[in-house]
Amino acid sequence: MSRRLTGFTPSGDLHLGNYLGAIRPVLADQASDDTDTVVFVSDLHALTLHHDPAEVRRRTLEFATLLLAAGLDPDAGLFMVQSHVPEHTELHYLLECLTGYGEAQRMIQFKEKSGRQRQVRTSLLTYPILMAADILLYDTDEVPVGEDQRQHVELARDVAVRFNTHYGATFTVPRAVHPAVAARVMDLSSPARKMSKSASSAAGALRLLDQPDALRRKIMRAVTDAGSAVAYDPDRSPGVANLLDILAGCTGARPADLAARFDGYGELKRAVADAVVDTLSPIRTRYLRLASDPDHVRAVLRAGAKRARERAADKVCRARSAIGLLPA
Ligand code: TRP
Repeated sequence: MSRRLTGFTPSGDLHLGNYLGAIRPVLADQASDDTDTVVFVSDLHALTLHHDPAEVRRRTLEFATLLLAAGLDPDAGLFMVQSHVPEHTELHYLLECLTGYGEAQRMIQFKEKSGRQRQVRTSLLTYPILMAADILLYDTDEVPVGEDQRQHVELARDVAVRFNTHYGATFTVPRAVHPAVAARVMDLSSPARKMSKSASSAAGALRLLDQPDALRRKIMRAVTDAGSAVAYDPDRSPGVANLLDILAGCTGARPADLAARFDGYGELKRAVADAVVDTLSPIRTRYLRLASDPDHVRAVLRAGAKRARERAADKVCRARSAIGLLPA
């Protein structure tokens, strides 16, 4: 049995790329006997950049509701909101004591994000250490992540090994894994960049909560290429290749096989629109039903946090004792 952990940071809008690349693989893991899952909404991570408190609160509930609407089983494995399990922040501090300042500063994502801002929050620097705490708290074996987060999982690995070496075997050493299918769904209007949760990419992102006609409109307007023949060539025809990847992700067929079925871009786009609407509209419908009873979702989250705390408390207790804190 191996354990996989996935976090969703409640900023921006969840989109088809998140569904195909992160949510659906969790559902598959939950259905299999050899993988145990830990899934959480990483609300603390949404505080590392300028944020609006009401917006973070609203998104946290929205993300949790969407995960349930997508079919996540809250009783298979763990499912909770990160801040409801204070052990994450407690372990974060202990792991800060094993992380070099320079080591944190070397994170590429920190360099990129901090370079774009005037006021950089300290939490943006230490955020990968919080991520390490998220991972190590639950004896995670595998962390499915995109390329942009790989370095953070490496840090978690390094910190786990260091802790175990200096203070005794305490943590499972995790590794990053890459989701097999459609790991990269690109933006429809600029296929050189990944589909993004941020508001500025609304035209190119297929959001899980978009109405069916909005999904269709965005797909029909997707950037293709100068030619007209449908071929799967991600380097020369990235827009068309992305549409084929999306269709493949929704239908289970292979993108290169799909290409042969279409004579022109219009026909391809209509097929993609149908497949995306078929995939997302049941999720949206279930979301609207669940969202009409937020107390139910919050009760699910409370129960999830309670179970997570039982496991997390045990681990933090061992870490505290190993690192030299006097028991109370
Ligand atoms: N940082 C991830 C993101 O922004 C979310 C996340 C938080 C995470 N903690 C994690 C992912 C731990 C994997 C493991 O998408």
